[in-house]
Amino acid sequence: MKGIILAGGLGTRMYPLTKVTNKHLLPVYDRPMIYYPIEMLVEAGIRDILLVTGGNNAGDFLRLLGNGKEFGLEHINYTYQQGEGGIAAALTLAEFFADNHLMCVILGDNIIEGSITAYVQNFEAQGKGAKILLKEVEDPQRFGVAELNGPRIASIEEKPAVPKSRYAVTGIYMYDPSVFDIIRTLTPSSRGELEITDVNNAYIARGEMTYDLLEGWWTDAGTFESLQKATNLVAERRLRKAARA
Ligand code: DAU
Repeated sequence: MKGIILAGGLGTRMYPLTKVTNKHLLPVYDRPMIYYPIEMLVEAGIRDILLVTGGNNAGDFLRLLGNGKEFGLEHINYTYQQGEGGIAAALTLAEFFADNHLMCVILGDNIIEGSITAYVQNFEAQGKGAKILLKEVEDPQRFGVAELNGPRIASIEEKPAVPKSRYAVTGIYMYDPSVFDIIRTLTPSSRGELEITDVNNAYIARGEMTYDLLEGWWTDAGTFESLQKATNLVAERRLRKAARA
């Protein structure tokens, strides 16, 4: 399984923090934000990783991460997204890298408490189609929201004013290589982006989408409030671990 981390976009929601650096290089407690999705993949046994970055400070990723030795990797692959065409647009840049393998795609501002290993194994057993991870949240209108129909997802709405459930679609997606054919059929949304929610709805329409409920806490870190929340959660986790050691 290949690992793809999407850390493009311009981070304009977080001005002026992102005026001179990339959002994913901002600190979350004691590490830069980008460390967390890399660790998530490595912990799940995924060693072949592509980082899609963008904006004005792409070179800083290379200076920070190098070949990924700190994470036990032999190398990290990098590519560059021009502008802010959306999450699905960033993913198209990974087509050459995916090379017909299954892939686990993580948004660069997503942080979790636990491990994705079990979900990755479930998807490997599934072998095709797609899987997403859902999490019950207090503020679903900030996210893609899944409407459930028993064991299936009926549909996903992106940031609905009146959410049909409290199940947010986390930024952890697993796809087969047909994802790139799906993205080629998409048109930009009203905010001018190729939406990952449209990709997921296409898999739902094909009857090829499964989901798991993510255990432990999950947060994004892409707003001032969620960045602070992420910092607090990571700090608590770190202190709990230190107390146990
Ligand atoms: O965090 C989960 C949510 O992420 C999902 O529930 C939503 O369905 C999904 O659309 C997304 O929503 P956001 O509004 O939080 O996405 P945002 O524009 O903040 O982008 C999240 C990450 O995706 C960002 O940290 C880097 C990557 N990205 C985003 C854009 C727009 C790119 O690599 N390139 C892009 O052009």
